[in-house]
Amino acid sequence: MAYENIRLEFEDALAILTIDRPKALNALNTKTLQELEAAVHSLAGSPVRTLIITGAGDRAFVAGADISEMAGFSTKQAREFAGQGHRLLHMLESLYIPTIAAVNGFALGGGCELALACDLVYASERAKFGQPEVGLGVIPGFGGTQRLTRLVGRMRAKEMIFTGEAVDAAKAKEIGLALDVLPPEKLLDHCRAVARKIHSKGPLAIAQAKRAIEFGADGDLRSANELERQAFAMLFGSDDQREGMRAFLEKRAPIFKDR
Ligand code: CAA
Repeated sequence: MAYENIRLEFEDALAILTIDRPKALNALNTKTLQELEAAVHSLAGSPVRTLIITGAGDRAFVAGADISEMAGFSTKQAREFAGQGHRLLHMLESLYIPTIAAVNGFALGGGCELALACDLVYASERAKFGQPEVGLGVIPGFGGTQRLTRLVGRMRAKEMIFTGEAVDAAKAKEIGLALDVLPPEKLLDHCRAVARKIHSKGPLAIAQAKRAIEFGADGDLRSANELERQAFAMLFGSDDQREGMRAFLEKRAPIFKDR
């Protein structure tokens, strides 16, 4: 499929999704959200093992939802637009493969929220994370009030959302918004290296680990642990479990088949 505002490229089992709207610092308008949804949807059930999401250029990951489009929204349109954003971010969390945000610059508003919905976040030294929506007279609309709160805690999330102040990459790492900070030219290669490590492990196990964390983290501990127990048991019906354990006992590297 031909996209206008994004690029979807493949390097073996790695997919790299680049938001590419330089004239608006990669801001998310309806069309871009539609393209992102289609691209993410196309990965489900494909041989891709990891998805990296990044922004084109050296200034922005995503500078937010598109303000010029939102400015004229009615309440109904705003509800639909936010719904579109929520759908996309839930899709990312529901993907069976890990997603990595390579935050190469501004990750503001919807851009910060996009990063928050990825499994792993790495930041360039140039990255800035923020939820500036109250300065526009609105609040985060793609899950920022919820995911940011769950990730960095209520008080930190309130500080970021109430003041609208962006934090730099070092601060983002300190508060748990990013895992590591890399020089800009090393960011993507670092994410590729993380992806390669993931690709050497059992894909069914990675998928079940992601599901147990995603669906369990917001639940009560007993139900969440039961979810883990069932997933753990289910994996004992897979070829990959037999191969992984046999390889360990035979002191060789496993060859996983994703079944
Ligand atoms: N929407 C639309 N256009 C945007 C944009 C956005 N979110 N962010 C930047 N742009 C455009 C600018 O309008 C400008 O376009 P022109 O050249 O045509 O004037 C171009 O990108 C370059 O931006 P600046 O000239 O502003 O660049 P700068 O270096 O001076 O500032 C910036 C960079 C601090 C990121 C600034 O652009 C900015 O504050 N952007 C808006 C950030 C924001 O408020 N994001 C939240 C949006 S609301 C949201 O996301 C709601 C939600 O939760 C879903």
